[in-house]
Amino acid sequence: MVTHTPMYQTLLILHSINRWLVLASLFYATWMAWTGLRSGKSFSGRNNAIRHITATISHIQLLLGLSLYMISPVVKFGGAEAPGATLVSEHVFFQLIHTALMAVAVVIITIGSAKAKRAASDGQKFRIMLIWFAIGLLIILAAIPWPFSPLANRPYFR
Ligand code: HEM
Repeated sequence: MVTHTPMYQTLLILHSINRWLVLASLFYATWMAWTGLRSGKSFSGRNNAIRHITATISHIQLLLGLSLYMISPVVKFGGAEAPGATLVSEHVFFQLIHTALMAVAVVIITIGSAKAKRAASDGQKFRIMLIWFAIGLLIILAAIPWPFSPLANRPYFR
């Protein structure tokens, strides 16, 4: 029997909702870096705050994901594997693919954020943020279990 504890349900809902904040902040920060780079503007305090907030939201998602990983019946080692209509089982997707790709994406965002913070010129700050955040965003977009994903399917909202 699959038991769904309140803790598990809560983490799953928070992880599902926070994905939209991760995506919105990353899209916005990437677009901001692109327009900042093109216009040759100076890297303002507001730009810096958005860099920081975006990285922090992705860190919160990482923590929620790691907590889920510990208790999820889908990830559970040695658990039963239900065959599905997707390319890989949910078990393999969440235990390996989703977790590894998302962890790499968060590391990339973290490195980009730190490098941008320390970059010498304002143009470099925008450029570094644009490249690292865009790569992180692309990986995240590929590793989300969208309802239309060939790998695993989950609802848009919980
Ligand atoms: C950073 C970007 C991430 C995004 C956007 C993201 C997004 C999602 C989404 C949309 C789901 C489906 C939720 C649902 O069923 O409604 C999910 C499930 C899950 N995620 Fe993430 N995730 C991220 C990172 C991570 C990380 C880093 C880990 C692990 C370390 C992780 C572990 C999990 C697990 C274990 C599940 C499945 C839980 C279950 O169904 O029992 N996620 N994630």
